Amino acid sequence: MAGYLVSDERKVTTHRFIEMKQKGEKISMLTSYDFTTAGIVDKAGIDGILIGDSASNVMVGNSTTLPMTVDQMIYHARSVVNAVKRALVVCDMPFGSYQTGVHDGVTNAIRIMKESGCDAVKMEGGVEILDTVKAILDAGIPVMAHLGLTPQSINKFGTYAVRAKEDREAAKLISDAKALAEAGCFGVTLEKVPAALAKQVTDEISVPTIGIGAGNGCDGQILVVADMLGMTQGFSPRFLRRYANLNEVMTDAIGQYVSDVKSGDFPNEKESY
Ligand code: KIV
Repeated sequence: MAGYLVSDERKVTTHRFIEMKQKGEKISMLTSYDFTTAGIVDKAGIDGILIGDSASNVMVGNSTTLPMTVDQMIYHARSVVNAVKRALVVCDMPFGSYQTGVHDGVTNAIRIMKESGCDAVKMEGGVEILDTVKAILDAGIPVMAHLGLTPQSINKFGTYAVRAKEDREAAKLISDAKALAEAGCFGVTLEKVPAALAKQVTDEISVPTIGIGAGNGCDGQILVVADMLGMTQGFSPRFLRRYANLNEVMTDAIGQYVSDVKSGDFPNEKESY
């Protein structure tokens, strides 16, 4: 347990992430948005948990991540922080909370850290947000960068296809990653970019890359927890490996409950007072 005068040696820190890269230890990350799931994910031994703004899709059913607000991210992040004992907890800064400039970015990052208790924030974008990233780092807040497919810019991209396949975009991604790492970001998420490019970035920066659809050359991997557990349906990108079919497990269990209620089998005597 961590607290005043009580430290937990096992708690994963941003420094531990960098040390893991240096030692060649792969970093495992998953998203979580609620207390119950985060507790299971943490207990299973994950290194980092991201409260992704993918909560917009997974928890709310929106088609993009754009509607998430700072208040909503804080609500989800607080729920996750309440459950986690070991993993590093990173919270996405939602669309609109930092694109308007340095002052808004720092104010919102401070709110997220203060009100959720998370360990770090994640921000989408390259050199165009560098001043804001630097100011947030100067405020003492660890920042994870996010390059490649950045879903908050989906209306600019027009598609969720693989990014940086062409030389110009690949070159920009490499220089963005270097600038963000040099500024002091403790990690860089690389989403849906060619594996060879992700490997090159990984080799050329001193902080860990965390890939999603970016191949095996990254220092770590992240997936959306509901996707890898097979809760979501109709979303099967090539990079997604399903480790369970919870959709089927839950549907069967709920179907059994419905039938037990209808037949009068539930509750039985032992389940009554
Ligand atoms: O919001 C999210 O879940 C993310 C991951 C896909 C990296 O940003």
